[in-house]
Amino acid sequence: MKVFVSRRIPGEVIRFMEQYGLEVTCNDSDERMQQNDLIEACKKADILFNVGSADLDARFMESCQHLKGIVLTSVGYDHIDLNSATYYGIPVSNTPDVLSKSTADTAFLLMLATSRKAFYQARQIEKGAWKNNGFLDELGIEINGKTLGIYGLGRIGLELAKMAKDAFGMKIIYNNRSRNMEAEQLLNARYVDFGELLSQSDVLSVHSNLTPETQYRFNRDSFRKMKKTSIFINTARGKIHHEPDLINALKEGEIWGAGLDVTDPEPMLPDNPLLQMSNVCVLPHIGSATIETRMAMANVAAHNIIAVFRGEKMPQIVNK
Ligand code: DGY
Repeated sequence: MKVFVSRRIPGEVIRFMEQYGLEVTCNDSDERMQQNDLIEACKKADILFNVGSADLDARFMESCQHLKGIVLTSVGYDHIDLNSATYYGIPVSNTPDVLSKSTADTAFLLMLATSRKAFYQARQIEKGAWKNNGFLDELGIEINGKTLGIYGLGRIGLELAKMAKDAFGMKIIYNNRSRNMEAEQLLNARYVDFGELLSQSDVLSVHSNLTPETQYRFNRDSFRKMKKTSIFINTARGKIHHEPDLINALKEGEIWGAGLDVTDPEPMLPDNPLLQMSNVCVLPHIGSATIETRMAMANVAAHNIIAVFRGEKMPQIVNK
């Protein structure tokens, strides 16, 4: 069986697949492949190891309907036309669990960095603009003992909630499609409706999937219902907040700050007004970008490939 890997991955993982007799071809670059090139490369493959977030739409699925499997290296699969994959009988797998801690760490990092205007302050040094700060200049806000609201309390949200409670004694409230009893028992987390999540959170962190229901869930109306002292964090998907409304809410002082690891579009353009704001921290979608997590993700993907090779069901299949 032939595997095509769409971006550079660790050599160990390639060797692991080869040990099973798989023939692995790798696009030995870090660049995202254009869809036409990906379709061309997949013509000679049985399985696609899709590294990163290259969109695989209906046209791709139709052109590559011979594929016996597509393995993703992400927990989110909103970039994949899953209905088309299912229609053509192509199983698709993702990489849940292994990136929960590193993504939660990123949310925590943004929460702290935003609360202390850390990126802005670092930029002042780089620009040679470190002046004799006044007693009241560009002050931060403390998160100790405050209320953390989590939108979408799954695996990643739970990891963030644990850290926030342990390290800062934060109170946890959450809004989800269903109750998370583990979080309620372990962290005394309180389930609230969306309105209460908006009005009670000091920090509101987004951890839901991007779906038609969650797209632009955070918009003009929602930002207006948040505390003027609140911080909005998104490490899930850039389309869950409506960016022009977020910019406006920050300019109008409807919320206090924002920390984003995900934007729409990605990459964010360098002239984006958010990048000039002292109360905003933006990262380039690095939620899972640690050596340990990327290795673990590549391994999970490789095990799913081995399952296809053996004629077994992929352990992390998302279109059952
Ligand atoms: C995911 O796994 O969905 C992440 O956003 C990718 O970094």
